[in-house]
Amino acid sequence: MSQTKINPGGKTVFISGSNRGIGKAIAVELLEQGAEKVYAGARDPSSLDELKEKYGEKLVPVQLDVTDDNSINAAASQVRDIDILVNNAGVFAAGGIFSEQALSSLETNLNVNLWGIVKLTNSVLEQLRQPKETAIINISSVTGLANMPMAATYSVSKAAVHSLTQGIRGELANDNVLVMGVYPGPIDTDMAKDLQMEKDSPENVAKNIVQSLIEGREYVFPDVMSGQVGALYAANPKSVEDNFGKYV
Ligand SMILES: NC(=O)c1ccc[n+]([C@@H]2O[C@H](COP(=O)([O-])OP(=O)(O)OC[C@H]3O[C@@H](n4cnc5c(N)ncnc54)[C@H](OP(=O)(O)O)[C@@H]3O)[C@@H](O)[C@H]2O)c1
Repeated sequence: MSQTKINPGGKTVFISGSNRGIGKAIAVELLEQGAEKVYAGARDPSSLDELKEKYGEKLVPVQLDVTDDNSINAAASQVRDIDILVNNAGVFAAGGIFSEQALSSLETNLNVNLWGIVKLTNSVLEQLRQPKETAIINISSVTGLANMPMAATYSVSKAAVHSLTQGIRGELANDNVLVMGVYPGPIDTDMAKDLQMEKDSPENVAKNIVQSLIEGREYVFPDVMSGQVGALYAANPKSVEDNFGKYV
C-alpha cells in the first residue's frame, strides 16, 4: 500500500480532457486548492479559453488527443516537472456484446479509455518516477468493477482501466507514486446526458478526488452512488454484478 499523500499546494498537474465535465472540475478544484500549474490537455485548446482567462499563467493549454501518437509525444515534451497525472479523457461509445456495433464500439472505447492511458502514462513516466512524491489518477467507473450490459463494451474498457491501474500500482510499488483508481457512478456531464437516473455533480467528484489525494487513497468512490457500490463490492462482488445485470 502506498504511503504517498499529496497536498495539491504548489503542485504541477497534467490532465487529459480538461476542457469539460469531470476533467474541467478537477482542474478548477486543484487550482482553487493551490496547485501551481495545470497543464490542461484538450483536443481543441481553444475550448480552454474561459479557464485560461480565469487562471492566467497557472493554466497552460496543451493540445492532446490521446488516440494520436504525435499529439501525445508533442504534449509530453511540452509538460515539465509534473507531480500529478490525471488520466481523465474518455468516451462512451454505446454497444452491447451482441449489438451490431459491438466491435466498433469496443474498439472506440478501448482506443480512448485504455490505450490512451497506457500511452499517455508511458510518455511522462520518467517525470513521475522521481525521488519526490507524485500521483497517477486513472478515471475508471463503477462499470469497471462489474459489467453493465446496456453499456457492455464501455464496461469492458473501464474494467481494463481497473486492471491497468492495479498493474501500474504493482510496477511502481517501490516508487513514491500514489496510483489512484477512481470509480464514479452517474455524473452530470455531457457523457451522461441521456442517462435517466440521479446524478452527482462533477464538482463534488473533483472535491472528493482532491481530498483523496491529500489522504493518499488508492481506491476512490467519489459520489453517493459509487460509495454504495464500493461498499457492496467489498462485501459481495457478485451482488454488484447481479444488480448491474438488470440494466440490459
Ligand atoms: N459522466 C459519468 O457518468 C461518468 C461515470 C463514470 C466514469 N466517467 C469517466 O469520467 C471521465 C470524464 O468523463 P465526463 O463525464 O467528464 O465526460 P465528458 O463531459 O464527455 O468529457 C470527456 C472529456 O474527454 C475528452 N476526450 C474524449 N476523447 C478524447 C481523445 N481522443 N483525446 C483527448 N481527450 C478526449 C473530451 O474532449 P472533447 O471536448 O474534445 O470531446 C472531454 O474533455 C471519462 O473517463 C469517463 O469515462 C464518467
